[in-house]
Amino acid sequence: MENLKKELSNAKTTQDLDNIKSKWLGKKSELKAKFDDLKNIPAEKRQEVGAELNTQRVKIEEMIENTKSEIQKHILNEKLSNDNFDMTLPGIGISTGALHPVSVIEEKCIAALRRLGFIPVSGPEVEEPKYNFDLLDIPPHHPARDMQDTFWIKHEELLPRTHTTSVQSRYMMSLNGDESKLPVKIVSPGRVYRNEAVDTQHLAIFNQFEGLWVGHDVKLSELKGTLEFILHEIYGPTVKVRFKPKYYPYTEPSIGADINLGDGWWTIVGAGMVSPQVMKNFGFDPDKVSGFAFGFGTSRLAGQFTGASMRELYGMDLRVFKNIKGVK
Ligand code: DAH
Repeated sequence: MENLKKELSNAKTTQDLDNIKSKWLGKKSELKAKFDDLKNIPAEKRQEVGAELNTQRVKIEEMIENTKSEIQKHILNEKLSNDNFDMTLPGIGISTGALHPVSVIEEKCIAALRRLGFIPVSGPEVEEPKYNFDLLDIPPHHPARDMQDTFWIKHEELLPRTHTTSVQSRYMMSLNGDESKLPVKIVSPGRVYRNEAVDTQHLAIFNQFEGLWVGHDVKLSELKGTLEFILHEIYGPTVKVRFKPKYYPYTEPSIGADINLGDGWWTIVGAGMVSPQVMKNFGFDPDKVSGFAFGFGTSRLAGQFTGASMRELYGMDLRVFKNIKGVK
């Protein structure tokens, strides 16, 4: 053991230690030979000698391990003292992620609508003009087609949808005029694209979500109640809501809803009763079937909710995000 101690005190590297280990515990070690010799020891003493050898083995292992951690510590210290590494500097914090404000609003609205029995559906972002315009009573050359400046693809055969109202058309057309499939209560969030001049409040890409309720005897009062319900879910009961007349080619009558939280009125939703012509286009008899639809500006809601401009909301600058209300 004294010899081992001396050898260990001379060891400088982990390689030295490996050599010591194999000398003292390896196949050719004295200890191994003693273990092999156990079979020649009289049976009554074998257990005692075996136990003693085991104690020795454990002790040697311990001594080697201890020296190993000392050597490693020493190597690390050497390295650190030769390095320009300042152990006292504060570490780099890990910040946790959070949902984007648009997603937060979207989820709140969808949760509220689910409680009213609406189910989420989705539609393609690259759309045919038929679903985005024609079925909604916006024929080519109709001035309303210019109301939403369009990015056309492939000589006007396709377009990135200008509103989520296209999902209404797709969903209604999938029913093939089958009245037994009514009522329809769907909600469809997503991105929309407009060829707009970009400024702090207008972007070429933003988010909307669409709602549609079609059935028998669906009334305007239910539309107003539904919109108020969603707004109260988001902003609480104190939010002021006002309705105003609007024009959309696919609804008759059409309305808009504004909200006021003490910082002026914000228009955040367009809506109305599905027009008889559109109902016919969808394959249903407007004398028997009625419905309402609405399109919320999710981005506007998120802007209103957080106080961020559209550019900040979609800018993905984390420094801005950390400072906006409701997002941490
Ligand atoms: N599509 C409209 C827009 O993008 C919003 C809208 C208005 C949707 C009336 C509707 C609706 O479903 O009935 O501004």
